Amino acid sequence: MAVYLDGTIVRQEKLSEDIRLMEIRCPEVAAAAQPGQFVTVRVNQLHEPLLRRPFGVAGADRAAGTFSLMYRIVGETTELMDTMEAGATISVVGPLGHGFHLGAKRGLLVGGGMGLAPLHFLAQADPDHKMEVIVGGRTRAEVFWADLFKDKTARQYETTDDGSYGVKGTVNAVLPGLLATGQYDCVYVCGPSPMMKAVVEVVNQYGVPCQVSLEKYMGCGLGACLSCSCEGKGGKRMKICKDGPVFWSQEVVE
Ligand code: FES
Repeated sequence: MAVYLDGTIVRQEKLSEDIRLMEIRCPEVAAAAQPGQFVTVRVNQLHEPLLRRPFGVAGADRAAGTFSLMYRIVGETTELMDTMEAGATISVVGPLGHGFHLGAKRGLLVGGGMGLAPLHFLAQADPDHKMEVIVGGRTRAEVFWADLFKDKTARQYETTDDGSYGVKGTVNAVLPGLLATGQYDCVYVCGPSPMMKAVVEVVNQYGVPCQVSLEKYMGCGLGACLSCSCEGKGGKRMKICKDGPVFWSQEVVE
């Protein structure tokens, strides 16, 4: 059963022109959240959008009782979120879904766009900070993420489609070379679905276990509305909100 919680906004930070980090005090979520899980939020204002919106948990400070979300300003809910100030209340349900399987000795994170938010929590949760990360973006303005991973990962690689920063191309411009070293025992992927498909294809060639965090429109986030279903192996329908959002890559076909 969903538990509705009131979170208090602690701070908002402008990460780029249209991307924000929101830190929320909500001890229940901060204590329980695992990397890869998400929350749904509703903005408590008059004329609010009625639906809750899902956001992957991007970090947690269990001692302070806070967790963070990163969001791109793309519509009514996120525009309202951007106007909220420290001290405001935000309605939270979560943490929801199944997160990443942890325990890799040396993980490689591969992310693009907002898919880097859940990977950020995964990197933060690695006590030894031994993971490495490939940050992909279209332009230099989109690879600010690499800075967020600097003190949480052993090494960062950046790619941009236009070559304005890092290696020119998609994340697959550097992925095969890294996998060929044989030093990674798990790859964690999150980003736009064409990117994830292309990454999984390459990872499969090297036989490295791979976990994907899927993103899809979610109506309820609680397994009740079927709006988030995807095709699993053998034609089995799976709910991203309840069975995922993290899956082993061979579990899902889409
Ligand atoms: Fe409703 Fe997944 S979002 S079932």
